[in-house]
Amino acid sequence: MKEKVILTGANGNIGRTFVEFLVAKGYFVYAVDLKIDRLKTSKYVELVQLDITDEDAVHDFFSSIDNLRVLINNAGIGVFTPFENRTAAEFKKVMEVNLLGSFLMSQSALKIMKKVGGGKIINIASIYGSKSSDERIYGESGRNNSEVYSATKAGVISLTKYMAAHFGKYNIQTNAISPGGIYNEQSIDFVRNYEQKTPMQRMGAVEDLLSTLLYLISEDTTYTNGQNISVDGGFLAW
Ligand SMILES: NC(=O)c1ccc[n+]([C@@H]2O[C@H](COP(=O)([O-])OP(=O)(O)OC[C@H]3O[C@@H](n4cnc5c(N)ncnc54)[C@H](O)[C@@H]3O)[C@@H](O)[C@H]2O)c1
Repeated sequence: MKEKVILTGANGNIGRTFVEFLVAKGYFVYAVDLKIDRLKTSKYVELVQLDITDEDAVHDFFSSIDNLRVLINNAGIGVFTPFENRTAAEFKKVMEVNLLGSFLMSQSALKIMKKVGGGKIINIASIYGSKSSDERIYGESGRNNSEVYSATKAGVISLTKYMAAHFGKYNIQTNAISPGGIYNEQSIDFVRNYEQKTPMQRMGAVEDLLSTLLYLISEDTTYTNGQNISVDGGFLAW
């Protein structure tokens, strides 16, 4: 029987490539997202339209699952307006998706993984969970990363350490991946500025994340727990 993976944010830019990759590596994927319009169901992909911030809906979804090897908490959102204009509703929304959603999914996954004797939880954080964005590289792009995005991604890294510390005894390893900026047709000015700040002198591609993902979910990776692996071309190194 194929090992089962739950991937949130599966309909998004990173998620869609993750789905294809996981299937190619022999996993069965529950592809979870608010919207599932950019995904196709198949023998090895079950599409799950789910709001990960809805506690009852998350519980309902997990009630139909009896076996799970990997949970990838990848769904995440940002907000790009200035700090001075932030509303409480915007702040709470980012907190809910990035932190509460990851918590709810992990809480339910834990129960199944304990029963089946172990598992892997991968949280997708960000370089901006470890340091602030630099407003000088964003210019007029309107894509400036926000305080609440950074705060929630720092929270995701912290949640990772908590779960690693408390679930290790159940043979569950929890780790985070912090991607650097992924190229997705951003403005020429932004891309140039970003490249100048990156030792590898380029933005990332979703494909750059795959080898780290594979390492962390591999059966052979049994003693890496509580780590936050930055896949960022060295962005955080200076
Ligand atoms: N793209 C980057 O440069 C970058 C860099 C660092 C970290 N990340 C992180 O990687 C992850 C994926 O990013 P992406 O670029 O693919 O973003 P994306 O916006 O393309 O995809 C995010 C997905 O999450 C889904 N989602 C949002 N709220 C949800 C909810 N309540 N329930 C279920 N699904 C929900 C969205 O519908 C969307 O499909 C995010 O956590 C993001 O913060 C991205």
